[in-house]
Amino acid sequence: SDPFPFYGEHQSGIVTPAQDRLHFVAFDVITKNRAELVELLQEWTAAAARLTQGKEAGSYGAVGGAPEAPPDDTGEALGLPASGLTLTIGFGASLFDERFGLADKRPAALADLPKFPGEQLIPEISGGDICVQACAHDPQVAVHAIRNLARIGFGKVSVRWSQLGFGRTSSTSRSQATPRNLMGFKDGTNNLKLEDADLLRDQLWASAQDGSDWMAGGSYMVTRKIRMAIETWDRTSLVEQEQIFGRDKGEGAPLGKKAEFDPVDFAAKGADGQPYIKADAHVRLAHPTANGNAHLLRRGYNFVDGSDGLGRLDAGLFFIAYQRDPRKQFVPVQMNLAKKDALNEYIKHVSSGLFACPPGVRDAGDYWGRTLF
Ligand code: HEM
Repeated sequence: SDPFPFYGEHQSGIVTPAQDRLHFVAFDVITKNRAELVELLQEWTAAAARLTQGKEAGSYGAVGGAPEAPPDDTGEALGLPASGLTLTIGFGASLFDERFGLADKRPAALADLPKFPGEQLIPEISGGDICVQACAHDPQVAVHAIRNLARIGFGKVSVRWSQLGFGRTSSTSRSQATPRNLMGFKDGTNNLKLEDADLLRDQLWASAQDGSDWMAGGSYMVTRKIRMAIETWDRTSLVEQEQIFGRDKGEGAPLGKKAEFDPVDFAAKGADGQPYIKADAHVRLAHPTANGNAHLLRRGYNFVDGSDGLGRLDAGLFFIAYQRDPRKQFVPVQMNLAKKDALNEYIKHVSSGLFACPPGVRDAGDYWGRTLF
């Protein structure tokens, strides 16, 4: 398949039909020098423009440079195609502190997330000054891209944390079949999608009228690493599993309906006089009608980080969602879920990130974050 374009009005990797693999990284900036940071963003942009088109990170490549120097590409993707690689950058709130003179550019929508009931966040795997989301059909290609960006950034940034994901848990286009999460349910059925032009304009892309000119055409990304109590889940009955989500497991249809894409009817009642979709069902609480018409573009991945030493899979969902304003979208939805969702018994949020993803890079003379600096 053809590579996804790197240049454009918006960054790729947001409405791009979700690829199968993820390597997500959060960096801390260690240089104190603003010019050095800008130079790094320019170098990264040049490398990203090449990598996403299936080329090596630098123009000499893994074996074409001086033998005495470290190669400007690490080599493990030699011979592999672009594999649908997209690289999407975001800036965390901590970048807008006093170091780089960006404090007055911090968007209001990049307000710190509130504490949510039940979360158990680990600071070492949360936050970060800059993030890069690498998505591809081939994990080697995604890892190669992040590794080369980290190599290029040596001495200017350090890796704070990173996360591998396999198996997309959302479809972001109606051309895609809905995948399944590690609980075995179809995930992404009622997601915001590439084809929803009006909703994308209203709920995905930031606009200059929102208060931060430099973010026009960008979007805000929330990440949550959500650990699943897999073994407990696996001992839960099918009927209870289905009631927790409010959808059936085989087809993914809303309870009380037949087909996956049948509209959800929260008022419909079964023979017992009770609503098919219970008051604490995940889809009822997450639905736009329960949250002031807030939509999210979910773009998460399954993760299994091996086992935890106690015989349990260290596994779950690396949740990623894009939106125009987290204060009106992720925050109310997650607050609703954190308080009432039947799913809470089986999940634990352990990491959190919030990033302002700038608009797309226009052409070879432009760079990631130019409108900010
Ligand atoms: C819907 C799973 C966490 C927001 C769904 C669906 C599943 C699911 C199976 C139904 C299919 C679909 O429409 O996509 C999970 C799992 C989670 C999780 C396993 C944690 C491990 C979250 C979080 C949020 C969220 C943290 C946002 C704060 C939504 C939304 C919908 C949804 C907005 C669509 C509801 C609708 O409009 O029908 N989720 N989810 N989910 N989820 Fe989650």
